[in-house]
Amino acid sequence: MKRYLVTGGCGFIGSNFIKYMLGKYSDINIVNLDLCTYAGNLENLSDIENDKRYTFVKGDIGDEKLVKDLFQKYDFTNVINFAAESHVDRSIKNPEIFVKTNVLGTVNLLQRAKEHWLIGEDKYKDGVKFVQVSTDEVYGSLGEDGLFSEKTPLDPHSPYSASKTSADLFVKAFYDTYKFPCNITRCSNNYGPYQFPEKLIPLVFNNACNLKTLPIYGTGLQIRDWLYVLDHCKAIDLVCEKGRIGEVYNIGGNNEKTNLFIVKSIISYVHDNVNTECSEALIKHVEDRKGHDLRYGIDASKIKNELGWEPETPFEKGIVLTLDWYKNNKKWLKNVTSGAYQNYYQMMYGDKNE
Ligand code: NAD
Ligand code: DAU
Repeated sequence: MKRYLVTGGCGFIGSNFIKYMLGKYSDINIVNLDLCTYAGNLENLSDIENDKRYTFVKGDIGDEKLVKDLFQKYDFTNVINFAAESHVDRSIKNPEIFVKTNVLGTVNLLQRAKEHWLIGEDKYKDGVKFVQVSTDEVYGSLGEDGLFSEKTPLDPHSPYSASKTSADLFVKAFYDTYKFPCNITRCSNNYGPYQFPEKLIPLVFNNACNLKTLPIYGTGLQIRDWLYVLDHCKAIDLVCEKGRIGEVYNIGGNNEKTNLFIVKSIISYVHDNVNTECSEALIKHVEDRKGHDLRYGIDASKIKNELGWEPETPFEKGIVLTLDWYKNNKKWLKNVTSGAYQNYYQMMYGDKNE
């Protein structure tokens, strides 16, 4: 039986991943180690919290003793490291915590896994693997043409992407130095249920429903490659099961859209399904993000050719599934946008969001 340590499982992608795995495999055990920062929410997992195959542990991935004890107690066969500070704007305001969690935390996990799994020089227990959930932002920004492949040089621009790149380099170093069994996945922008509303899609949906201004950084012509979160979860599972040890796999939606297109799609949905007063008049172009990457676009041919993965959810379907979910879970949105979120919103956008 596989025994997973999933870190950051109370966040957006981690919570979707845990539910996907429990739904897919019956003979599985998952321990979710999460510090429950502002982005981690136990409510995201309330429907599976009593599942006997699932255990929640509150704690820091950088806590040496805690992670060591968890390896002793549960004898994990796999680690999937989602835990991170994940928001670019926050990294611009306060980079240090990104180094602590994303770099030092990852190195602690690598060390503890290596200690527990090593059985001889460069030899590890059968079937064990560490998957580092990374991001396309490590490649920097594209111009009008081309796509990020796994061979694209690393060129991060924000403190967030610099910290993720640094973590990737430690994972690579563990493979190069110790033959540590690992993979790195680099995915494009995810969308779907349970995303914290500091990120573009849930933020704009929430504001649009309340007829608040919709902040677009700069021109709004920046491009992201959007992937439905469940498709990302499937790709991570596949990489964990079948990925060649030591390899990097890009994951993308083959779905490049400008920010303006995304915002206008949300306005149209809210107008038709929530509030007919919602219109493009709510759009407000605000000061651009510092160091704003212009375009991300993923070449996902390696994971397609080697592992048979392709995005399954067309954007037109995924965005409706997503916005329907937020519409039907207004209480969740209200809970996560109360308290500290209001201070964050005021700092970023100059007014409260109540
Ligand atoms: P998120 O911010 O929603 O969740 C992060 C989770 O990590 C939270 O539950 C938080 O409590 C937890 N956490 C933070 N610091 C911790 C610590 N020190 N110890 C333990 N837990 C801690 O993030 P997300 O959007 O779900 O992203 C998950 C991972 O996927 C991140 O590593 C991110 O870099 C990567 N990623 C995200 C996207 C995206 O579009 N959201 C795309 C590609 C890759
Ligand atoms: O590409 C993968 C990355 O996608 C992940 O590694 C990150 O963890 C995740 O946060 C996401 O980063 P982005 O910076 O692309 O996502 P965000 O939702 O913050 O912004 C998407 C785009 O929208 C970006 O160009 C900035 C813009 N934006 C964002 C916000 C919050 C706005 O124009 N206005 C806003 O209010």
